[in-house]
Amino acid sequence: MFKRLILAIAGVSLALTAVTACGGSDGGSTGSNSDTLVLGFSQVGAESGWRTANTLSIKEAAKTAGVDLKFSDAQQKQENQIAAIRSFIKQKVDVIAFSPVVVTGWDAVLKEAKAADIPVILTDRAVDSDASLYVTFLGSDFVEEGRKAGQWLVDEYKDAKEPVNIIQLEGTVGSAPAIDRKKGFEEAIAANPNLKVVASQSGDFTRAKGKEVMQALLKANKDVDVLFAHNDDMGLGAMQAIEEAGRTPGKDVKIVTIDAVRDGMQALADGKFNFIVECSPLLGDQLMATAKKVKAGETVDKRIVTVETVFDQAKAKEALPTRKY
Ligand code: AHR
Repeated sequence: MFKRLILAIAGVSLALTAVTACGGSDGGSTGSNSDTLVLGFSQVGAESGWRTANTLSIKEAAKTAGVDLKFSDAQQKQENQIAAIRSFIKQKVDVIAFSPVVVTGWDAVLKEAKAADIPVILTDRAVDSDASLYVTFLGSDFVEEGRKAGQWLVDEYKDAKEPVNIIQLEGTVGSAPAIDRKKGFEEAIAANPNLKVVASQSGDFTRAKGKEVMQALLKANKDVDVLFAHNDDMGLGAMQAIEEAGRTPGKDVKIVTIDAVRDGMQALADGKFNFIVECSPLLGDQLMATAKKVKAGETVDKRIVTVETVFDQAKAKEALPTRKY
């Protein structure tokens, strides 16, 4: 009797294993057979205040939307992102989303996702792969952000008779925001031939690198009027370098940045920054809603552009008390 009971339990457990295997689990979840959306998300890293806010937004939105989120931090390395995406494919998640560290080099892994019939959503940053390899791209218009920063300088220096010397701190080499913001900015300032970029170098979107690069550039360029940094964090690092060089940020050297995270907004409200173009990291809710539509087989727009604004010092003072990030 006892023997028969053991055999029966073994039989049930074998059957259960078979059901899981049919669902296609390789140790991970089987999203497609359940109502719960399983979303694999590969994040760039934690290089900036923006990125931290973006990660938080995605994690919180997943919780609220009841999404089973498989989150992976690539520490700013493309090979880590490719490995994470391959692991999501192996786990047979319902949808893969990622914020690509650089623009190039994604064709092979995106083709693997397509062959496995797993839709891919790009968030925040673009790739140069064929558009048929992803369902949609959700994020900011980085060229437009660069243009807005440049336009502020065109207006600010409309009466300038002398050259205005600008240092540009670029984001991560080969990343969409670095390429596009440079393009938009340089396009806009071309309207005033007095506006001259005297040095342009990458600070990798981090505060530490922004400071280090700015220290070197200030030594090589004695006559600097403006810093344009591709994000707040590099601007904040460079601001320290400017102060340590005995100059007053916001006055001797005007500072224009992109993002509008809390520390950047504080510097703007304090008069140390002059203008910030907003780049919103709050993509979580939109990502969850889009991923659910994709899983349900609904059509989504190929490009979903984030709505953003700009801040001068007065607007920053007003916005700071209720700023979410
Ligand atoms: O891709 C968005 C950019 O990446 C943000 O401007 C920057 O702060 C981040 O690291």
